[in-house]
Amino acid sequence: MRTYIGLDLGTSGVKALLVNEEGTILKETNRSYPCLFPEDNYSEQEPKEWIEKSLLAIEDLLVDENKEDVKAISFGGQMHGLVLLDKKDEVIRPAILWNDGRSVDETNYLNKTIGQNKISEYTGNIAFAGFMAPKILWVYSNEKENFDRISKIMLPKDYLIYKLSGQFATDVSDASGMLLLDVKNRKYSPEMLELCHINEDMLPKLHESYEVCGNLVKEYADRLGLSTDVKIVAGAGDNAAAAIGTGTIGNGACNVSLGTSGTIFLSSDKFSVDEKNALHSFCDASGKYHLMGCILSAASCRKWWLEDILHTEDYLKDESELEDSPTIFLPYLMGERSPHNDVNARGAFINLCATTTKGQMSKAVLEGVAFALRDCLEIAKQNGVYPTYSTICGGGARSATWKQIMADVFNLPIRVLKTNQGPSYGAAILAMVGDGVYKSVEDATKAIVKVEETVQPRKDRVEYYQKKYELFKRLYPALKAIRD
Ligand code: XUL
Repeated sequence: MRTYIGLDLGTSGVKALLVNEEGTILKETNRSYPCLFPEDNYSEQEPKEWIEKSLLAIEDLLVDENKEDVKAISFGGQMHGLVLLDKKDEVIRPAILWNDGRSVDETNYLNKTIGQNKISEYTGNIAFAGFMAPKILWVYSNEKENFDRISKIMLPKDYLIYKLSGQFATDVSDASGMLLLDVKNRKYSPEMLELCHINEDMLPKLHESYEVCGNLVKEYADRLGLSTDVKIVAGAGDNAAAAIGTGTIGNGACNVSLGTSGTIFLSSDKFSVDEKNALHSFCDASGKYHLMGCILSAASCRKWWLEDILHTEDYLKDESELEDSPTIFLPYLMGERSPHNDVNARGAFINLCATTTKGQMSKAVLEGVAFALRDCLEIAKQNGVYPTYSTICGGGARSATWKQIMADVFNLPIRVLKTNQGPSYGAAILAMVGDGVYKSVEDATKAIVKVEETVQPRKDRVEYYQKKYELFKRLYPALKAIRD
């Protein structure tokens, strides 16, 4: 038997999957690490934690398993994070993550002074504070001594690739979120590198997601009890990896992820740009492209509400108490990316009254996240992209109620898959393709990814949510007007 390891380097922790070549999950392990918020709008992590926790997750995974069967490892990684190494390969500062909003001035500089049209012409996208390029400029303006030490710039999962294989490498789907990539042509944009005061030697070599970057280095092969023949396959940004894990390939295919962030991923055979650049235009992990909307707080809203505010981890009890009400929740706990591009957007509960219950507020949280993703779906429709169904993955997709709310708010059938481990499963599939088990990523997903059930939208609830969504849509501009 040949087996493959898929690692999902997430924001709250790393997940590891051991999968055989038929796609059967043999084992799954997790290790968590903290997200540091040293100031409002700041979000950081220590890259050292990623490597150590990933190794521990792999060690747990391999207990009682046949290590000789393992042929390749690949990755899905939280996107956009800025990891800086110096000449001695020391990490210069904590990584600045995808949900960090400190680079407002630099984002404005790129979008306003240089101009959205130019940035979009170079990359297919505009600047968002969490993207890598404005964060490089932030380090340039605010930590010049750190900037001057930079020898290598990489994304979170690329740090794992570098440590495990010794290769300075990335893949085009994750690199799309740097805002340094000419997405259409799948190569770095010289104009963007110049704007960020860097050169291409500082950046990892670009690969397609299913390509082999190198082999496991001896130090870690010895520690894990694996062979140095184990291939390290480039992998993908977590959303592009989730798309593979859910079989979201080709025109019209759509996946929703309810993780720390929430995303709607719209696959496309051809490169296209959203007219207003509210959706990202990125490479996918199968050799094609996608449009994506990303909301910064999705399952993290539920976690915040239950764990931080109500001090409970009993998600099932909460789910059993959910109730309809006029209460509306705005999920902008970390500002918002798509479609508002506003780091100062803030969350809110609206329409509370003396009889409002906890169950009503809990339900409003799930609905608010669905409405924010619906905002992204509406932008896709304005671009002529009309999905006819969506798959779903991420921690939030474990909730039956949330899946039904998604189907009703989107008015789309939601396909639930046999395996709901989107990014780590996609990573394992990329490892198989890299090892030559399947000729293409598409062949692999066709053979492996299976639908278990479809959650249908219910007509009366579609109408109910349409009315509530109309109100939701008016709240962000109204609150922004008061704030500004
Ligand atoms: C996508 C994005 C998030 C992170 C979360 O653009 O920023 O989905 O990748 O892991």
